[in-house]
Amino acid sequence: MDRSPHPGRFLVLEGIEGSGKTTQMERLDAALRAAGHPVCNTREPGGTALGERLRGLLLDPDLPGMCAEAELLLMFAARAQHLSEVIRPALQAGEWVLSDRFTDASFAYQGAGRGLGSGRVAELETWLQGALRPDLVILLDIEPEAGLERAVQRGRRDRIEREAVDFFERARDAYRERAAGAPDRYLVVDGASDPDTVAERILAGVRERLPLHALEG
Ligand code: TMP
Repeated sequence: MDRSPHPGRFLVLEGIEGSGKTTQMERLDAALRAAGHPVCNTREPGGTALGERLRGLLLDPDLPGMCAEAELLLMFAARAQHLSEVIRPALQAGEWVLSDRFTDASFAYQGAGRGLGSGRVAELETWLQGALRPDLVILLDIEPEAGLERAVQRGRRDRIEREAVDFFERARDAYRERAAGAPDRYLVVDGASDPDTVAERILAGVRERLPLHALEG
């Protein structure tokens, strides 16, 4: 069912480290463009000059002492700029915003992973987003052990990737809980499947829920 309150559509990809988000961002971006939709491909933390600078601080392994509250507020500082400079204008212009992470990541990592609780995250969400929520959140679900193994193969770990496995277990559980609570706004796909299968499941789920133009070929 599609009841989007803005002319564009807002899609978000989420999942813990090593869930295959980067590959699936590329695949979905290509499929949406092939179907003739204008795509705004972006990411969090990041997506603006300020947001990318904040991302550098947030992921810097040389800042191990960052407290959980500072981390949450910096995530939302980057998000505030992203909303004002990129997301809201693109949605108003009728674009399909495809974001590599959004506020669900704050619920998962800071709310659950860091233990700040969902209430604090929800307060910031209400303040900065008002009624704006993604039309669809695609959750690539994977066991933390398997995901971290994939992430480690990519090389030097960032500040958050250095967390212990139980941190990612809490984040994964929070993602799954949120998805289970609103099945019409979340699509959960097994991130451990091969990338072609994951891409097919994502497209099928998007097609079911949003007015995707027919894909050619
Ligand atoms: P990634 O987008 O390359 O996966 O890395 C971003 C990291 O930032 C990842 O570890 C998840 C984390 N993150 C949060 O902890 N909270 C947030 O709100 C967002 C957007 C990301």
